[in-house]
Amino acid sequence: MTKRICSVQSGTILVLVICLSLLQISCRMMTSTKVKPLHSYDNQVQALLAKMTLEEKIGQMIQLDQEFLKDPQDIATYFIGSILSGGGSDPKAGNSLKAWADMYDGYQKYALKTRLGIPILYGVDAVHGHNNVLNAVVFPHNIGMGCTRDPDLVRKVGRITAIEMRATGVQWTFAPCVTVPRDDRWGRTYEGFSEDPAIVDMLGEAAVQGFQGKDLFDPLSVAACAKHYIGDGGTRAQIVEGDAAQSSRRVRLDQGDTVIDEAGLRAIHLPPYITAVNAGVATIMPSFSSWNGLKCSASKRLLTEILKGELGFEGFLISDYRAIDQVHPDYKTAIGISINAGMDMGMIPSKYKEFFQNLKELVQEGVVPISRIDDAVTRILRVKCAMGLLDKDRSQLADRSLWDSFGSDEHRQVARQAVRESLVLLKNENKTLPLSKEAKRIHVAGNSADNIGVQCGGWTIDWQGKSGEVTTSGTTILGAIRNTVSADTRVTYSEDGTGADGADIVVVVVGEKPYAEGFGDSADLTLSSDEKAVFANAKKADIPTVVILLSGRPLIVPNMIVQSDAFVAAWLPGTEGQGVADVLFGDFKPRGKLSFSWARSADQHPINVGDEEYDPLFELGFGLSF
Ligand code: BGC
Repeated sequence: MTKRICSVQSGTILVLVICLSLLQISCRMMTSTKVKPLHSYDNQVQALLAKMTLEEKIGQMIQLDQEFLKDPQDIATYFIGSILSGGGSDPKAGNSLKAWADMYDGYQKYALKTRLGIPILYGVDAVHGHNNVLNAVVFPHNIGMGCTRDPDLVRKVGRITAIEMRATGVQWTFAPCVTVPRDDRWGRTYEGFSEDPAIVDMLGEAAVQGFQGKDLFDPLSVAACAKHYIGDGGTRAQIVEGDAAQSSRRVRLDQGDTVIDEAGLRAIHLPPYITAVNAGVATIMPSFSSWNGLKCSASKRLLTEILKGELGFEGFLISDYRAIDQVHPDYKTAIGISINAGMDMGMIPSKYKEFFQNLKELVQEGVVPISRIDDAVTRILRVKCAMGLLDKDRSQLADRSLWDSFGSDEHRQVARQAVRESLVLLKNENKTLPLSKEAKRIHVAGNSADNIGVQCGGWTIDWQGKSGEVTTSGTTILGAIRNTVSADTRVTYSEDGTGADGADIVVVVVGEKPYAEGFGDSADLTLSSDEKAVFANAKKADIPTVVILLSGRPLIVPNMIVQSDAFVAAWLPGTEGQGVADVLFGDFKPRGKLSFSWARSADQHPINVGDEEYDPLFELGFGLSF
């Protein structure tokens, strides 16, 4: 599928948790290394700005999606400042490394031909590796990285992602997502490191440092984008009554309304942005969601007063995908509101000509002051200048010498380490784990055991991800088990869980079907009946049972947890399934700790550490070892 056409409780404990978080944050801020401030490029930027016409300035404020670019000459005609590939917006020539580099170079050449020759910034959602491109290394989604609590590892993951991106020319990732998801029913929970602001803050900072390197000027750095500012993970669930015959109840959280006072917003959702700004994050994406009924993309208080004023953010704001359209039913009015609120660049996938014309008129009519345009363009050019894009001696084309390292074993080893560290062992009775590599026979059950798509989840090759076929290259969990056991061990496999009789052990791998954004909003947070049947079939063999759960959040699967002998939450580990086998067979001792509270039942949602009545099945921080 290509990209769409488509209470907080207060209380003493919460206050304590937040105070502790803020203390940790300020301690780290004191130790973090200072990066070069973006305003230090202002001499060069102002000299360029002085030469620009109104049209050239407005063009810099536009990001279009290449999927909707009928005539690449438009890049030059409208002086386009940026292009994106939203999820599934692949090169027309396919999805290979070469096709991406050729596409990037092709578009960049149009920008370089303009009067001022200002290069475009090309943006993608490289949210767990350069995940749109075939054969890139795909890392665990952030929920798994949160369980590692390992900032050095997150930094390395960011570095490798940046290098694989640069191999295609792309220099901007819409990551890290520093959301603080407070309701697991939200379809984007897995994009967040944790429900705990302190963990998000610590790993968000590391991710920014990994992507941007020591200096944005380094040709191996990419611009990061902290998103979605602010409170995207705090939206209030709306219950949508389903078809009465099916008596299904569905829930909607994505792009909703975060109802919370300013003190609460600052305590839970702001800390990761304070740290990201201090770490020098180049860009920030305002959220689709609203704060107390007002769209974040329309809020001058949030964008200008708090972010740019109080926090001193010197980079630029990029709107979310068509988010400006949601600000007001009349498009021109919407543009005026959002730009005046402080939005610097619009992600205008298809209507870029309309945006260009409307914004020009708004300036001519005095609705948007030219000072606002100059501020937006200054911020965009600062980032371009800091990244060496205005350096005429530097090639702005893809660095093909990096192709050798793309998807390399070296990069995959880091992903494998991330997988090992992210697994959380929730149960291990009778020392079921580690498994013996010398067992006579191991039966592996479940389609998810041999399914790169399910183990990668959403935002992998396609926007929504894909199950059931080889999505990209990597090692499945079944493959990893086969790689690990001794030559005398038989590994048998069935998709439906049958056939385990007589084996020493059965490893059941079950998972959620991939999803992204609102498509993942879910009221009951459980597995499909097919997945449950795999477990039930495997149990009939009456042998020790290990469950590996692949999911974007804690699921309500009480029977599996009770009836299994060992239970591992493996999240969405990405392409390197070998890391799962490393833990199963004891080559690496499990050490992941839950970064989200695990509810007992669906009606406990939302549940978060610090709640006055906190009684989860597994607390935040829980995780066994052996
Ligand atoms: C998502 C963003 C993403 C953007 C571009 C939006 O739908 O909310 O997280 O960066 O699309 O693909």
